[in-house]
Amino acid sequence: MLRYFTAGETHGKCLTVIVEGMPSGVKISIDKINEQLKRRQKGYGRGGRMAIESDTAEILSGVRGGFSLGSPIAIKIENKDWQNWEKIMGAETANSERTVDCPRPGHADLTGGMKYNHKDFRNVLERASARETAARVAAGALVRQALEPFGIEFLSHVKRIGEVEDTADVNETDFFERVSESPVSFGDETAAKQAMEYIDKIKADGESCGGVVEIIAKGVPAGLGSYVHYDRKLDANIAFSVMSVQAIKGVELGMGFGVSEVSGSRVHDEIKYKNGFSRMTNNAGGIEGGMSNGEPIVVRAAMKPIPTLYNPLRTVNIKDKSEHTATVERSDVCAVPACAVVVESVVAFEITKAFLDKFSGDCIDDVKSYYDVYMERISKF
Ligand SMILES: Cc1cc2nc3c(=O)[nH]c(=O)nc-3n(C[C@H](O)[C@H](O)[C@H](O)COP(=O)(O)O)c2cc1C
Repeated sequence: MLRYFTAGETHGKCLTVIVEGMPSGVKISIDKINEQLKRRQKGYGRGGRMAIESDTAEILSGVRGGFSLGSPIAIKIENKDWQNWEKIMGAETANSERTVDCPRPGHADLTGGMKYNHKDFRNVLERASARETAARVAAGALVRQALEPFGIEFLSHVKRIGEVEDTADVNETDFFERVSESPVSFGDETAAKQAMEYIDKIKADGESCGGVVEIIAKGVPAGLGSYVHYDRKLDANIAFSVMSVQAIKGVELGMGFGVSEVSGSRVHDEIKYKNGFSRMTNNAGGIEGGMSNGEPIVVRAAMKPIPTLYNPLRTVNIKDKSEHTATVERSDVCAVPACAVVVESVVAFEITKAFLDKFSGDCIDDVKSYYDVYMERISKF
């Protein structure tokens, strides 16, 4: 079973991720991991840290000569700013500089402090922070390489930033090229300009914002996941992973909450047959009964506004319980484009996991053999 663990604090020495369950013989490119890490760092509205950071992955184990060995793969992402944090974050050297006393509403600070008995909220925020998502992006970028020979690809874009919606059609040719060039990952240039103006405005007001991201997985064969048991349902596993991303407060598949507003015939995707089965629409977002149905998998997630506000909200100082404003830690104002890359990565991980569960094999050649047999069988169904 494909799984991963991450370790590391936001200003710690490095982030580490260990991925277990990759079959042997998968061609691994470190450039492809770094490409995704770079995408995660971009976007209009990011904080000062992005100027210092240029994340690069180092593979410590499990890959030899560009191919996976079948053993656990460890990846390290160094903190390029470590020399400025060693005294504050070192395992043995840490001092009490940069103590955080005033918990930020909307962040993990207060409840995390109560739970783990940390009176310095830095001990909480260092791990709760979305810096950890760099490790998850590395894991997703690594494992999705196993799906490349099967023609499965993952795309993402931003649908909304605060008040501004991108209404461009994802099916337009060059939509995703425009997205890759857009500072807000929109397909429509006019809407992108409005979104940037909106970010400028909230920044000037000391505010922050959230938005909606959409992920599309193409080429996923019918039959990943299962209807037979709750924890094998692909939609459930995707929703769990996406909801675990920092600041995500809603997850939808296909038509999502919209299914509750219209009658059945406008929701359910009619079936046709022409050299195989397909659907006339894709309101289900590619998953029915907890299984991929062969249509593109479409996942949307809502990100709440960033909790750190430069015009901070009211809170209470832990030392004397006096009224105070929240601590301001260097922060993004808008991280929705980065969030799209993170959600894309966790969706890629879940789909790769479901793929390797279905076509299980110790080496990728065995996976491919089983895949071919299965695809041949369902093509004649
Ligand atoms: C890509 C990304 C970047 C983020 N950047 C920040 C940030 O700079 N400052 C901040 O306060 N929160 C940031 N967040 C959100 C917090 O990490 C998150 O709100 C917090 O950990 C509390 O968790 P919850 O919102 O899931 O309840 C970011 C989230 C993501 C996905």
